[in-house]
Amino acid sequence: MQDYIETHKHRFIEELIELLRIPSISADNGHKKDMIKAAQFVKTKLEEAGAELVEICETPGNPVVYAEKVISEKLPTVLIYGHYDVQPPDPLNLWDSPPFEPVIKDHKIYARGAADDKGQFYMHIKALEMLNSTNQLPCNVKFMIEGEEEIGSNNLEKFVVENKDKLKADVILISDTSIISNECPSITVGLRGLSYMEVEVTGANRDLHSGVYGGAVANPINILCEMIASLKDKDGKITIPGFYDRVAIIPMEERIEMSKAPFELEAYKNDLEIEDVIGEVGYSTNERTSIRPSLDVNGIWGGYIGEGAKTVLPSKAYAKISMRLVPYQDSAEIAELFTQHFKAIAPKGVKVKITPHHGGEPAVTPTDTHAYKAACKAFEEAWGKTPIPTREGGSIPIVALFEKELGLKTILMGFGLNSDAIHSPNEHYGIFNYLKGIETIGLFFKYFAKTN
Ligand code: BES
Ligand code: MN
Ligand code: MN
Repeated sequence: MQDYIETHKHRFIEELIELLRIPSISADNGHKKDMIKAAQFVKTKLEEAGAELVEICETPGNPVVYAEKVISEKLPTVLIYGHYDVQPPDPLNLWDSPPFEPVIKDHKIYARGAADDKGQFYMHIKALEMLNSTNQLPCNVKFMIEGEEEIGSNNLEKFVVENKDKLKADVILISDTSIISNECPSITVGLRGLSYMEVEVTGANRDLHSGVYGGAVANPINILCEMIASLKDKDGKITIPGFYDRVAIIPMEERIEMSKAPFELEAYKNDLEIEDVIGEVGYSTNERTSIRPSLDVNGIWGGYIGEGAKTVLPSKAYAKISMRLVPYQDSAEIAELFTQHFKAIAPKGVKVKITPHHGGEPAVTPTDTHAYKAACKAFEEAWGKTPIPTREGGSIPIVALFEKELGLKTILMGFGLNSDAIHSPNEHYGIFNYLKGIETIGLFFKYFAKTN
């Protein structure tokens, strides 16, 4: 495998660069053609890698690319999931090079989607190419690469339900997460869920002169700020009644085990150029982003933000608020609790309108399965180290869905680093991680196919 990767690595990188040139931004309807272009690129490359029954499956949104290479009904099947859509690249002025003109710098590929998730799902296509062309594919593989992950995978549940037979497999394999570091590989065993709300606060029926009315009429921006500030208490606990009711209490032994994963708070702070961290009292930084839920304002706007000073008391204020959820919180229930609470705390002088956006359920994946052990062996052989199980703070809603609809567990074998700047300017993916990932995936297939 290493020889094959070494021989073909330049082409592997060139192909990924070609994919990264397609601005497949799912959040932006102006890019519909690019979504199709990306799906077609994925289809062609799957065919070239030796997959069969490759098809572009239409959905009410962006298509899903499906492919399979079934070599024997007697062998186990791995269903690979990934997403070809990417986040919007803004703010553009903070990129050192244009987001859809990939460049290689310091052994890293810089482009939107480099790590999330084009660079990561593409490793699977190259792993298939490698094993297929050398007659070493040890198990059946299926691919399901979607184009709406970054906007909530709204059409995927229906697709999965309607294609249960086609998607029949023994395990799901996803590379869309991170490892602790290249010196300390890890396997993700937990993801948080998400509830995402948009709120609109309205004061008077029109913008007012802030001198004529200021002090006498509710200013929706002031009110919104107060309401948001009240959503957490001084200990960093979320104040929405019932919010913590279903939160799983992690036993102390497990927390101690988790705390053994290498983490340097000083390096973390230095990297972010912050003097200190904040968060829920009684929990470590790692715990705050993994086993504990969180609530954050993602955007807030209203009133005058142009040049100079316009004296105005705005009629409306808005915010987008995300809540990251942990087992056994339910995204719809949390959305409802938020809505009730936010309405209840609104003072009389304003009206509030609340719109829930996409959500997703939290997930934990087991470590006592044959598949997990196969993943460990693959890491041990490729990286020379036993991977540490870790929980991460991001969300991949399909993981809970696969379990619910197909009864399948997932292996989250991501190879990104937290420093890859996903969703941020200058996103990048290490070439080392890209090539090592291909090797690790190939080894996973090998060990997974062995029944004992
Ligand atoms: N790949 C990420 C999720 C992720 C990142 C998990 C890093 C673990 C570590 C995924 O593409 C993503 O960004 N998901 C969204 C959720 C979605 C519903 C928009 C997220 O977490 O914000
Ligand atoms: Mn992703
Ligand atoms: Mn993402």
